[in-house]
Parts: sequence; C-alpha cells; structure tokens
Amino acid sequence: MFNLRNSLLTICWLLFSVTCYSQVSTLQNIQSRKTLSLNGKWNYIVDPYENGYYDYRHDPFDQSKSGSGGFYDDKVQKDKTELIEYNFDLSPQMNVPGDWNSQSEKLELYEGTVWLRRKFNAEPLKDKRYFIYFGAVNYEAHVYFNGKKLGVHKGGFTPFQFEVTDKIKAGENSLVVKADNTRKPDEIPTVNTDWWNYGGITRDVFLAEMPVHFMNDYKLQLAKGSTSLLNFSVQLADATAGQNIILSIPELKLEKTYTTDTEGKVNQQLTINKLSLWSPENPKLYAVNIKSNGENIQDKIGFRTIAVKGNNILLNGKSVFLRGISIHDENPLLAGRLRSEGDMRMMLQWAKEMNCNYVRLAHYPHNEEMVRLADEMGILVWAEVPVYWTISWTNPVTYANAKQQLTDLIVRDKNRASVIVWSVGNETPLSEPRHLFMGNLVDVARTLDDTRLVAAALEVHREGNTIILNDPLGEKIDLVSFNEYAGWYWGGTPSEITRYSFNIKYNKPVVVTEFGGDALGGFHADANTRWSEEYQEALYKNQITLLSKIDALRGMTPWILTDFRSPRRQHPVYQNFWNRKGLISETGKRKLAFFVLKDFYNQMQIKYKY
Ligand code: GCU
Repeated sequence: MFNLRNSLLTICWLLFSVTCYSQVSTLQNIQSRKTLSLNGKWNYIVDPYENGYYDYRHDPFDQSKSGSGGFYDDKVQKDKTELIEYNFDLSPQMNVPGDWNSQSEKLELYEGTVWLRRKFNAEPLKDKRYFIYFGAVNYEAHVYFNGKKLGVHKGGFTPFQFEVTDKIKAGENSLVVKADNTRKPDEIPTVNTDWWNYGGITRDVFLAEMPVHFMNDYKLQLAKGSTSLLNFSVQLADATAGQNIILSIPELKLEKTYTTDTEGKVNQQLTINKLSLWSPENPKLYAVNIKSNGENIQDKIGFRTIAVKGNNILLNGKSVFLRGISIHDENPLLAGRLRSEGDMRMMLQWAKEMNCNYVRLAHYPHNEEMVRLADEMGILVWAEVPVYWTISWTNPVTYANAKQQLTDLIVRDKNRASVIVWSVGNETPLSEPRHLFMGNLVDVARTLDDTRLVAAALEVHREGNTIILNDPLGEKIDLVSFNEYAGWYWGGTPSEITRYSFNIKYNKPVVVTEFGGDALGGFHADANTRWSEEYQEALYKNQITLLSKIDALRGMTPWILTDFRSPRRQHPVYQNFWNRKGLISETGKRKLAFFVLKDFYNQMQIKYKY
C-alpha cells in the first residue's frame, strides 16, 4: 500500500509540475514594458523545516486535496479558536531586491527556506494580460498569488515569470515566494562553490501589464560576419498572424513595417550601410523602437562584429587584446549581491580605472542592468553559467537545468553588444561524461546564437616545468581559456614561476580566465611573504612575464577585481570568510597589484591601439 501510494504521489507530482509549471518564455527588455515595481519592503518568515510547505507527515500542502494550509495561504488570524502558527503582517521585513544573508545577522550563513510576501493594489483591465516577473531568485522559488500556486523555478541567476491574468484582483493582491537556497549535488551549481550562497529575491520584481498581442521576444543584431546586414526577429506571445510590426531607428531615418507569419513571428533581414559600430572606444548605441498593435518598445542597441581568426580576436575586423578582470555579483563595501545601478556602475568604473576594456562576469549570469551598463560604458563581457567544478555530469535533469540556464542567459542578453562570449562553465574536472555534457552546451550556445564566441574556463596540468593544456573541450570552443595559479596554489614563490613554459594543444586565441593570489589589504611585508600586498604585487609582475611567453595571448581576466565573501576561506587573520584575491579590498583600497595590472593594460592599449 505504502509503495503504491508513493508512486501515485510521484505521478501526480509529475503531472502537476507539467500542467502548472509551464512558463511563457521570459519577457525581453522588461524595463521597456508597462510595469509596476514590486521592489521594496517584503514581510518574511524564516522556515528551516519548511513547515509552511509540508504537513507533519511531510506531504506538500499545495498538493493536498484542499491545496491549503501552507504559508502561501496568507491567512490572518480572525477566528481566535483557529490555530494559525504564522502571520506575515506581524513578521519582520526585508528589502527586495536583496539577499537575506546581508540583511539579517541570523541569516548570514542561512541555507534553507525563507517565505517572502508582498501585498500590492492593482486595477486590472479587461483587455490586458498580467505577468509577475522576477529578475532572479536564488535558488528554488515556489511562487503563489492570492493563495494559488503559480509555479516553480530553479536557477539562482536568470529571470522568469508567471502569468496572473486570471488571478489578479481589483484592489489588494498578495504575492508569496518560498525561496530556498539549499545547495544540492544535482543542481547547477552543485554543493561546492567558492562564493557566498546569497539566498532570496536578489533582483527586481515587476507586475507587467501587456496588450493581448504582446511581443515577448525580439532580436536586432548584425548577421554573422557582416557590418551592414541585420537579423530582425519578433515573437508575439499569442502567435497571432497578420500583425503589423514597425521597426524604427530614428537617427538613421529608418522605418520598416513587417507582418507576423502564421506563428506570430517576424524573421527578416535588412541592410543598413554606414552603421557606427560599437566598441569600447566608441560604445555607440542606437535608439530602437519596435511597435506593434498596442505596444511600443524602446531599446538601445549597439552593433559590432566579433570573430576569431588564427590566434587573433577580431572586433569589427581589427585584432583586439582583452584587457580584462573577473568580477563576482557582490558589493565588497556592503557585502551582498549588487543591489542597484549605483553598485554596478561602481564595479565597472573600477575596472575602467584599471584600463580594462573587458570583464568576466563570473561564474553565473549577472544582473541584466550590469550588462546594459557595459553596453553604455564600452566594456566587453564574458558571460557564464554556473557549471562549476564537480557537477553531476550523468544526471539528465542536471543537464536540462544547465541547458535552461544557458538558454535563458542567451535569450535575455542577445541584444547586448558588450557580450562577446558565452561561457559554458568553469574549471570542471576531465571525464567523458563532462566532455559530453559541456560539449552539448557548446552546441546549444551556437544554435541559439551563431554570432558570439563560445568558451569555458578550462583546467591545465603540469609535467615538470611545463604547463599543459590539452582538454578535449578545446576542440569545440573558440578561445583557449584556462585558470592557472602559479605562485599561489603551486609553483613556489612569485619570482620562481617564470621557469614554467606552456604546451597548448590548440592554435586559437588564448584568453587566460584566472590567475592571482591573496593579499590582505594594508598588510605589508617582503615579496616572499604570503598574504602581503608585496607578495601579490610580485605575483602579478611575474605572472605577466610568464603569460607573455604565449605568442597567442590575446587577453586575460585575472582573479579578481575585489575581495569577495566565501564560506571556504576560514583563516582567522587573513580571510575571515573573505577570498582576498581582489585587487581592491573590501574597504575600496587599491592594493599594489592593482597598479601593476593597470600599467600592463596601459602598455597593451598602446600596443593594440585602434
Ligand atoms: C578557482 C575558481 C574561482 C575561485 C578561485 C580561488 O579558479 O574558478 O571561483 O574563487 O579559483 O581559488 O580563489
């Protein structure tokens, strides 16, 4: 009996998840839609035993016959005899967007479920459709609206939405999110990462009001290899044929009208000669309007080409050196996820101060605003999904998760000129299952977007004084990118690492994704004393000498712009749960190595002047 019941429950769950959890693909350019921001103070309830989700027999309330009983019911005790052991109205509040770890000392290391609830007033119109849109929730989100389950989303760094047209009420509405940041072996990322597991609603939340025939997705980008032929595509959410779509770029006095096909799509090409091509030196963005019946979307889009040829990376046909730095989505001065445009602009401004023209947004999709700022500020971007370290390579559900996160990243940022690389992962141990898993992700990236480079941060190994890269994944990707920690994790002191040489199997442009070492800002000693700024300074000088031996070196993103929080860094004097490889400390202090890299990039700017 028990087994039969369990298997019936499983079947119900699978059916339930198929019916309730299908989502409309995420809205392109939410910023340009008619939205009500749901950012602000949300009440929250910490629920380590998921008491608000499971009954005492550990059956989910929202799958019970009544579907009620969970914290999503959002009841307020009226009948004094009824036992209700929670109350959102009387619970504390936290800021959304915002991780919970940095908003409550009790929650600094908390991993588990927190329920968050926001009430808001609406005046829904009959001929409109309504969606609740999340920029990201880390890691698993169960979303309820006016007591009804909308669905579930997994993945801590990509946007998602649910339609609420048939649930939204005139007057007060209640939105409840069960956010759970528990790490699990079969997820993406898996249980072991070197960054803080910030949980919660970490990015913007909107109520979007859409016309019936709204455009949920569109693309306007140069076709591969062309500086004048553009691909223009639009998808209407309800796949209506015969709808007029008007594309206009006022500055170019361009206006063209297209009509959707039987699938509600526009898929056209148009030629625009004499485009001012986007580049770090000329971050030209065009105001683009896309009008349909009932909607007028504004975007700012740059046009450029990116390609590899032999050992060179060609930006708009010219060889470029990627003067980069790696960045985590964290504000070092006010530890926590980057919360606003101000935070993000600060990080990118620090990179530009170091003469960077490129950033690696490690190890997961960053805030969409970060990529839009890179468009505006003229900074090239390596974007990445958190296929990080020891993933469950043989689990098909894990692969589907990774594929979905990569797809959502590419769908979201495909119109951003600054993004030149889709990375399918970081530092993953070699094995046949891993090669299949990541090789398939490379194919997915190329299928979704044949205009950008595809890469991954590979691993190297050593034989004697030779650093060897022969990772089979190198066959499939456009760049030779690898992490190498000579002078910190191996190889002796900084002055000893220049004895190494490289044996790289592939004749492709080399963009080193990581090197570096820790320094406690303000700790000074000689160049052989670990943790001192002088040690890190010497390490950077010798790493640049070492890497300059690589003829095909065309860029680097040393690890990392700023110190960042990590539960893996426990030294009580030098770390205290901080990874100290930053070139800027958590107080904003530029360490000595900052100026070594700044000077090197200044030289490369002169050598590769446009
Ligand atoms: C690895 C990894 C980083 C990590 C770094 C380090 O290469 O990619 O995420 O923080 O090394 O050890 O500091």
